[in-house]
Amino acid sequence: MGLTKDFFIFLSQNKLLNNSAKKWGLKVGAQSVVAGTNIEEMVQSVKKLNEKGISATIDNLGEFVFEKEEATKATEQIIAVIEAIQENKLDAHISLKPTQLGLDIEYNFCLENLRKIVEVAHKYNIFINFDMEDHSHLQPSFDIIDELLRDFENIGTVIQAYFYQSQTNIEKYKGYRLRIAKGAYKEPESLAYQDKDEIDRNFMKLIEYHLLNGKFTSIATHDHNIINRVKAFVKEKKIPNEKFEFQMLYGFRKDLQLKLAEEGYNVCIYVPFGVDWYGYFMRRLAERPQNLNLVVKQMFNK
Ligand code: FDA
Repeated sequence: MGLTKDFFIFLSQNKLLNNSAKKWGLKVGAQSVVAGTNIEEMVQSVKKLNEKGISATIDNLGEFVFEKEEATKATEQIIAVIEAIQENKLDAHISLKPTQLGLDIEYNFCLENLRKIVEVAHKYNIFINFDMEDHSHLQPSFDIIDELLRDFENIGTVIQAYFYQSQTNIEKYKGYRLRIAKGAYKEPESLAYQDKDEIDRNFMKLIEYHLLNGKFTSIATHDHNIINRVKAFVKEKKIPNEKFEFQMLYGFRKDLQLKLAEEGYNVCIYVPFGVDWYGYFMRRLAERPQNLNLVVKQMFNK
């Protein structure tokens, strides 16, 4: 299992394969977990979710960008997504990754790209979530968030439960809307829990902390054990449904997504789209090799 995870993480970061994949179209089953390659297809996917009472956080896929031109293009594309949310009156907001906007190129360049995006979103009252990437990008991402929080309030970020320092971070950002997730990257033992039970324990601790002390909590997981524990906790503490939502990835556990929405919980689906689907898709396989089942089903259900 460990080897499989490492293997898919390696594939997710392979630059040559990432670039080639842009020309392949949505292949090898990625269609089931990526909502199209362009804005029109994505809008149709989000409308279908909205009809079921489910909101969306839209990710115009891309990460680990090393050319300024590419980061500038990504900035323009994300602004086009914001305009599409507004025009189509979608119940949706944005998720983005700082490395897509130039964090590996130049800090100030990235900050200015993000400022442009947040400014347009602010005009329409649309929320922007800063996804959190691997540990090497953690501090610069928080630095950018701190700078933008001086001028805007429509932003929030992610706390990854596998990091030892997550409790410190959640306390610092408790005044904001936060997504809490287990963490998707391969991190060293010096920085992060490796054991599933320890990660789960810390995940639950952070969720409870933010539900009690924070602004709004997005609980990002497909783990029914965690979801059931959250349901019991909010009931016991009488935390109203408006204070939190469950988030899942597009195409995963669709029955559970619907069931939660029907039970009256807020459900928000992470909707990735675009030509840059490869790294995202490989990370999903790394997290759970059984996700390959989705791929196999897709191939036979044509
Ligand atoms: P996990 O993979 O730990 O599985 C636990 C159990 O749940 C499994 O043993 C199984 O029983 C059940 N289960 C899980 N998936 C299932 C499936 N597809 N079908 C049936 N049963 C299933 N990470 C990050 O580092 N930065 C980020 O910004 C984000 N953002 C983000 C947004 C959203 C909306 C989500 C859902 C996740 C993220 N993540 C993330 C990824 C996150 O950190 C984590 O890697 C994955 O969600 C996998 O962990 P889970 O908690 O979903 O279950």
